[in-house]
Amino acid sequence: MRDINIAMFGLGNIGSGVMKILSENKDMISNRYNIDFIISGILVRDINKRRDIDIDKSLLTDRVEKLISDKRVSVVIEVLGGVNPAREYILMALKAGKTVVTANKEVLARHWQEFHEAAKDSGAGLYYEASVAGGIPIIKVLNQSMQANSITEIMGIINGTTNYILTNMSEAEKDFEEALEEAQKLGYAEPDPTADISGLDAMYKLSIMSTLAFHAKVPIDNIYREGLTHLTKEDIRYGKELGYTIKLLAIAKKKGNVIEARVHPSFIQKNHPLAAVREAYNAVFINGDRVGNLMLYGRGAGDMPTGSSIISDLITACQNECKQEYTTFANRDKSLSMVEFNDNWYSGFFIRMTVKDNPGVLSSIAGIFGKFGVSIESVIQKGHGADTATLIFVTHKALENSIKGAISEINMMDDITKVENIIRVEV
Ligand code: HSE
Repeated sequence: MRDINIAMFGLGNIGSGVMKILSENKDMISNRYNIDFIISGILVRDINKRRDIDIDKSLLTDRVEKLISDKRVSVVIEVLGGVNPAREYILMALKAGKTVVTANKEVLARHWQEFHEAAKDSGAGLYYEASVAGGIPIIKVLNQSMQANSITEIMGIINGTTNYILTNMSEAEKDFEEALEEAQKLGYAEPDPTADISGLDAMYKLSIMSTLAFHAKVPIDNIYREGLTHLTKEDIRYGKELGYTIKLLAIAKKKGNVIEARVHPSFIQKNHPLAAVREAYNAVFINGDRVGNLMLYGRGAGDMPTGSSIISDLITACQNECKQEYTTFANRDKSLSMVEFNDNWYSGFFIRMTVKDNPGVLSSIAGIFGKFGVSIESVIQKGHGADTATLIFVTHKALENSIKGAISEINMMDDITKVENIIRVEV
């Protein structure tokens, strides 16, 4: 039996979940892998805080140096979240030659390069399965199972909070605020939901998974991001009438050496596999040139699913003798040394506008779309007030900039009351 001494940085929900799995599955893990995981110390901010978990208080410390200098400790599990002090502590651990297992997508997406370098210098490992889509083993799939493929597209629902909110808005016809409030009451949304509803959380995860998928750096600065606060139940209802389901999608596509990466609400056909992903579930859809389409589905958050990924990394790290693996944040694919990022991509568009119900309005709008090379797939008109109407256009694939150009011209028309909303349609 090998004893592996671990230090844990953080003891919140995820950290407590890790402790629970390690304790309840202790025999199973030692029988299967011949490893005995021993928690040697836990870094917390407040040692005397009341905790739900039954813990030996002598393990707790508020001094990171104590754990870093502990020679017995070969692996650190980082579940602090956020950038500070997580970045500094991860670097300290890596420089001291300790392998780091992290669930922290933000610090990884922002500081992967320096972690990579520190791990390379000391020979320590860096593992991060839990950083993307919680319990879904997407990192291992990308790193180990897809080697024979060139991945051209990776697309996912990788934020459970927003998927829960959108499912509720769509199925129970709730407004955004009402759906958010309910998600908060049920614990699916944080008291401060900004990182989720603004798309930041999904952006960090997309940066990590698309970097691995394309073997080329996809920094967060090159990812377009749009949250979901502007969505209304009207848009979602009209979209449903047209056969679409609304999702917050994280999308990355590669064509030659050009990559586009974006997080935004999107309509998808209701028979698309991702449309069936409801409530707080996550899913990642991959297209590889050899395997074809592949989809992974599961829980993207929570102590047990995230803990499951952390323990899996822990075991893999030990099987690799805590050596470096998966530290990639580099353009491994030489043909991608000159990666370019595209911010003028093609997609379909759903455009809802309120107009004066006068003769010729529809054809004038259609004329402007035509002038900008935008082809209309369908249009529906809904009666509105006495002399106004709602028009909904769905376009064929069009360039972002063409839509922007057309909309700014349409906005100048006397007969347009308001362009109410524009939502991309993934086609
Ligand atoms: N808040 C995230 C989500 C989980 O809702 O999916 C952690 O990234």
